Amino acid sequence: MSILVTGGAGYIGSHTCVELQQAGYDVVVLDNLSNASEKSLERVKALTGKEVTFYRGDILDRDILNEIMEKEKIDCCIHFAGLKAVGESVVKPWEYYNNNIAGTLTLVDVMRQHGCKNIIFSSSATVYGDPAQIPITEECPKGQCTNPYGWTKSMLEQILMDMQKADPEWNVILLRYFNPIGAHQSGTMGENPNGIPNNLMPYITQVAVGKLKELGVFGNDYDTPDGTGVRDYIHVVDLAKGHVKALKKIEENAGLSIYNLGTGHGYSVLDIVKNFEEATGVKIPYSIKPRRAGDIATCYCDPSKAERELGWKAEFRIREMCADSWRWQKNNPNGYED
Ligand code: NAD
Ligand code: UFG
Repeated sequence: MSILVTGGAGYIGSHTCVELQQAGYDVVVLDNLSNASEKSLERVKALTGKEVTFYRGDILDRDILNEIMEKEKIDCCIHFAGLKAVGESVVKPWEYYNNNIAGTLTLVDVMRQHGCKNIIFSSSATVYGDPAQIPITEECPKGQCTNPYGWTKSMLEQILMDMQKADPEWNVILLRYFNPIGAHQSGTMGENPNGIPNNLMPYITQVAVGKLKELGVFGNDYDTPDGTGVRDYIHVVDLAKGHVKALKKIEENAGLSIYNLGTGHGYSVLDIVKNFEEATGVKIPYSIKPRRAGDIATCYCDPSKAERELGWKAEFRIREMCADSWRWQKNNPNGYED
């Protein structure tokens, strides 16, 4: 089977390419490299021994999509491509709606014109807003997003659900990721953020490697055990494996399905600092800062639906996530740049 992986040079996409190739799928990547390096795909090849067919291009470009659909005989698309920086989306809403929404509309239109109606979409826990219940199940109502990025995920879920309802030949799987961290255990692939990281784990690893001075902890007065924000951190390799399981489900013509992909465990910011220090032996200096706008206190999921229906369960624990994030950062202080 031939799988189109949009955004496949990025953090989650590149790890998913490894798992797909190891499971025997042919992988075709479309990425405009706006937030990635082609080197990630060389690392995929080094790990699996298999070539990734790479198209440098944009999901907004019908010509390249037509070319791929014609040449590569795509059976299913795993759609990661999108802009994802929460703060930037507040400053550049048009760019986010255009790239993520118009881009996805273009992609699915070309797919259906070529008779390919199978898609796995990267959604996010952000669609739950400030969640109505903890742990969050898939039945939990969607909430108010606090930024345009979150709305693109919420709207794209609705668009894909409506298309599947109107044309049941579509198989649509919406995967709501919790907080992906960690890196491939080889230490050759990992997260490669541009500039100063927004997310907790890349910030911590850059403090550890000496690129940043100290971690700012955004608020210690939340209604959580130690006052700092609690999240459901999931190893990126576990997440990648979830996509392989979702493909099996697509092969059964499953219609529409929605799954939370998380571990079901919540860790606070200070829990992560402590686990990182214990896993790596590196001390992380930090200071308490004001709350970050738009943050919620607690977010972790009930992942049992994915276990029941996909046979998928996260296996890596928090120490392994910390150790693997650190191995990648230590071996590649400048990410994929030399
Ligand atoms: P990433 O930025 O590393 O990967 C996204 C990739 O898409 C990049 O390689 C980028 O170059 C590419 N891209 C962006 N716009 C494109 C376009 N118009 N055409 C072609 N390629 C384009 O991000 P990631 O962390 O790997 O996230 C993958 C997906 O998962 C995204 O859709 C993201 O919103 C979603 N997601 C991520 C997280 C997270 O915390 N990392 C959480 C929930 C959901
Ligand atoms: N945090 C800090 N200091 C930092 C960075 C983060 O204290 O420098 C705290 C945050 O306040 C939060 C926790 O660490 O309590 C996690 O923050 P992240 O920015 O790593 O992750 P978020 O939960 O805010 O959001 C991430 C993605 C979203 C996605 C969401 C759910 O950025 O796009 O996970 O998947 F929607």
